[in-house]
Amino acid sequence: TVIHRADYRPPEWLVPEIALDFALSLDATRVQATLKVAKNAAGSGTSLLRLNGDAIEAKAVTVDGHAHNDWHMDGADLVIELPGDAHDVGIETLIDPSANTQLSGLYASNGLLCTQCEAEGFRRITFFPDRPDVLSVYSVRMSGDKAQFPVLLSNGNPTASGENGDGTHWAEWHDPWPKPSYLFALVAGELVANRDSFTTKSGRKVNLAIYVRPGDEERTDHAMRSLIASMKWDEDVYGREYDLDDFNIVAVSDFNAGAMENKGLNVFNTRYILADPETATDGDYDAIEGVVAHEYFHNWSGNRVTCRDWFQLSLKEGFTVLRDQQFSAHRGSAPVKRIEDVRILRAVQFPEDSGPLAHPIRPDSYQEISNFYTATVYNKGAEVIRMMTVLAGMERFLEGTTLYFDRHDGEAATCEDFVKAIEDGAGLDLKQFRNWYEQAGTPRVSVGMTLESANPTLEGEGATLGGRGVTLTLKQATAPTPGQPEKKPFLIPLRIALFDRETGEHHGEELIVLTEAEQSFTFEGFTSLPVLSINRGFSAPVEIVAPVTTEDLVFLARHDDDPFARYEAMQQLIVRHLVGAVAGTLEKREESQAAIGAAMGAILDDAALDDLMRGELLILPGEAYLAEQLTRADPTRIFAEREGLKRWLGETLKDKWLALHDRVSAVPYSLEAEARGARKCKTQALVYLGAADPAEAARRAKAQYDAATNMTDRQGALMVLCSLDCPEREAALADFHARFAGNMLVIDKWFSLQAGSLNPKATEHVKALAEHPDFTMTNPNRVRALWMAFAANAQAFHKAGGEGYGLIADLILKLDPINGNVAARFVPYLGRWKKVDEARAALMRAELERIAAEPTLSRDVREQVSKSLEA
Ligand code: ARG
Ligand code: ZN
Repeated sequence: TVIHRADYRPPEWLVPEIALDFALSLDATRVQATLKVAKNAAGSGTSLLRLNGDAIEAKAVTVDGHAHNDWHMDGADLVIELPGDAHDVGIETLIDPSANTQLSGLYASNGLLCTQCEAEGFRRITFFPDRPDVLSVYSVRMSGDKAQFPVLLSNGNPTASGENGDGTHWAEWHDPWPKPSYLFALVAGELVANRDSFTTKSGRKVNLAIYVRPGDEERTDHAMRSLIASMKWDEDVYGREYDLDDFNIVAVSDFNAGAMENKGLNVFNTRYILADPETATDGDYDAIEGVVAHEYFHNWSGNRVTCRDWFQLSLKEGFTVLRDQQFSAHRGSAPVKRIEDVRILRAVQFPEDSGPLAHPIRPDSYQEISNFYTATVYNKGAEVIRMMTVLAGMERFLEGTTLYFDRHDGEAATCEDFVKAIEDGAGLDLKQFRNWYEQAGTPRVSVGMTLESANPTLEGEGATLGGRGVTLTLKQATAPTPGQPEKKPFLIPLRIALFDRETGEHHGEELIVLTEAEQSFTFEGFTSLPVLSINRGFSAPVEIVAPVTTEDLVFLARHDDDPFARYEAMQQLIVRHLVGAVAGTLEKREESQAAIGAAMGAILDDAALDDLMRGELLILPGEAYLAEQLTRADPTRIFAEREGLKRWLGETLKDKWLALHDRVSAVPYSLEAEARGARKCKTQALVYLGAADPAEAARRAKAQYDAATNMTDRQGALMVLCSLDCPEREAALADFHARFAGNMLVIDKWFSLQAGSLNPKATEHVKALAEHPDFTMTNPNRVRALWMAFAANAQAFHKAGGEGYGLIADLILKLDPINGNVAARFVPYLGRWKKVDEARAALMRAELERIAAEPTLSRDVREQVSKSLEA
C-alpha cells in the first residue's frame, strides 16, 4: 500500500496521557498500557478507536477499568468500539525482546533491553495511534531482576524507585513534555555512567550522564565534552535552552541507525559515543561530536516542535543537520567542514537524486517510511535551509527560527509552517523557493560569460565607469525524476566573484539569485574577461557548468580567497580530466595532466596553507561523483583512470610526497587542528606513494603502523598495506586483529578496511570474511562494515561478470528476514544500473529481479527493489 501526503487527516482520537508498566525480561516482557483517550474535535466523530500494532497481540483489553470485548483486529491494528468521548483504555501485551532481530521496538542487545521507536517501532511494544501528531504525557513504571537490570531508565524525570524484596526492583519515570510515541524510550541493564552537569542560561542545573557497558566509561569523555559544548552553543546561537533536570545518553552496540533523540534519553550506536586516541580516528572524533550535537539539537528541532506526519521528516532532520553542521564548523575549521559536507552530499545525495529512488526533501508518497531516512531528506534538506541563510543572512534567519520555535512550540508542525515562519521572521519571500520542497533532482546551471565590445562612442563614459560590462547568462535545467517529468525553475542563490586577470583580485563577492530558466546579470567595470568564481561556499546544491578554462582553474586553485571555491577549482580540474578520459573526449591528456600536477604541487608547497585544508585539497574526487558527470560509464574504467592519475601524481611529485610524509610524521599526537592536519596529510602522502612506489610505500606504512600511537595513523597505514600485495599486509592485519580483539568497533574497521580495499583480491577477501567467526548478520555495524564497504568498492563490486552484484543480492535475501530495515539500505547499490554500461546493467537488473521474485520480502526491501526496477 502506498501512503500519500495529500491524504493527511487529523487523528480521530487523541491520547493526552499514557501510563506504561513493564515487567522486564529478556524474552518475555509484559507491558500494561493505560491510555487516556479523547475524541478529537477535528476528527469525523467515529466511535471506533484504531490503535496500530505490529507483530504483537492484545492479551487483554479493558475500558474504564472493566473487561471489554467490543474490539477486533483489522490486520495488525486493534480497533475498539467506544461508547463515549473520553475513556481509559487498558491493553496488555507480551513481547520477546531477544527474538526481535529487527531492532525496532523493544529489543535485547548484549543482555541490555533498549528501544528504537522512530518511525513506527512503538506499535511493536503496545497498541497505539502511532503517528507523530498524537502527543501524550508519559508515565512509565518498570520492574525487573535487580542483578540483570540494575539500571532502569526512561524519558523525563525519575520520580520513584524501590525494591520488591524478591530480587527485583522497580523505577518510575515521568516526562512532563507531551510527545509523540516515536520519542518514547526505555533502557534496562548493567550500565555505568560518566556523569557531569551543565547549568543553563536561566540557572537550571542539568545532570548529565552517558551510560555504557562497564569498561567503556573511559571512552566517553569526548562525547561528554561534545554534549556540553552543544548545550552551550544552542543557547548562544539559537537561544534554545534545555528543559528537564536530567539528560541521559545510552550507547548500545546493536543499532540500526546512528542515534536517536528520545526525549531526555538519547540512545546511541556505540560508534558515535566511544572514543580514545588508540581506538578512534580523527574522523570518528568528528562524527561523535556531530552526532551528539545532532541528537541534542533535536530537543528543540524535533521534540519541542515535532512533525505532523512522516512526509515532514525533513522539517526536523534537514534543519537539525544544518544545526549540527553549523556547530561543527564553529568547533573546528569552518572551511574544511563545509568541504566535507559537500563531499558527502555529492557522493551520496547527488546519485540518489539522479537515480530510481529520487524523491523531494518532502516526499509525496511512500510505502515504508524507514526508506526515507535518506541523504536527500537529511543532507539536501540541510542545504535547502542553508540557502535561506544565504538569502537572509544568519542574523535575520535566526529571527525566523525564533519565530518558528515560539509559534509552534508543543505542536506537530509541517515544512510549510517552517517556511512561513522564516518568511515572516526573516522577511523573505519564499514563494518560488518552495519548489525545493516539491521537486526532486539536482539542477544543472550552465553559465555563459561575455565581455561587452568596446563601444568607441561611449569611450569617455565607459572609461569613467572603469571599463566594459561583463554579462553572465545562466540557464537552469533539472532532469526528470520518477513521477516528475517536468520541472519548474528553482530559486538558486549563487555567490560569485569576478577576478581581474591583471591584478588577480576581485571587487567583492556578489549574490545573484536565479529564478528563471534563463537569466542574465551584468557587472560593470572590466577591461578584459574576468575569471569566474561561482557557487562560492557552495551556496546552492546544484551542478555548475561554467566556461572556466584549465588555466583559470589553475589560477583559482591557487588564489581564490574563498576556501571552498579553491577546493572546487582543484576538484573541477581533476573531474574534467577524468571524465574526459573515461568518455574519450579528453583532448590534450598530457597538458591537462600537467596542469593538475602543477596545481597539486603548488598545494604541497604552499606554506601559508594549514595541513587540515591541504589534506582536503589533496583528495581526488570520488568515483560516485565522477560517475554522476557521465551519462553512462563502465565503473571499472572510472576506477582505472582515477588510479592512473593517482599513480602519475605519485610519481611526478614523489619527492614532495616523501618530504610531506617526513615532515608531518614528526608532529606529535594531539587533538589540535595542526596535529590532525598532519595526520590527514600523512595518510594522503602514503596513498599517493602506494600508487607510485609500492615498495617504498609498504616500507613507510609498516613503519607508520608499528610506531602508531593512535588509530588515525594506524588505520591509514593499514589501509595502504591492505591495498598492496605485500608480505607486510598479512602480518599487519593479524596484528591489528589480535591487538583489538574484543573491541567491536575496531574489529568493524578491520572488516571494512579489507572490504573497501583497492587490493585486486578484495572480492576473495570479502567472501572469506563473511565466513569469519567474528562476522555476524545480527549486528548492523558488522554487516555494514563488511558489506557496505564492499558495495562501495567500485573495482570489486563492479568486477566484470557480476559476481559482486550476486554477493550483494545474496546478502539482501539473507539479511531481509533478520533485519529488513538494514537489508533495504543495500538495494540502491544495485539500483543504479542505468548509470553503468549495458552489460553490467543487465546483470544488476537480473539480481534485482531475483530479489523481487522472493515472495516474503519485507516492505522495506520490496519498495526499494520494485522502484529500482520500474524507473
Ligand atoms: N531521528 C534519528 C536521527 O536522526 C534517526 C532515526 C532513524 N530511524 C530509522 N527508521 N532509520 O537522528
Ligand atoms: Zn536526526
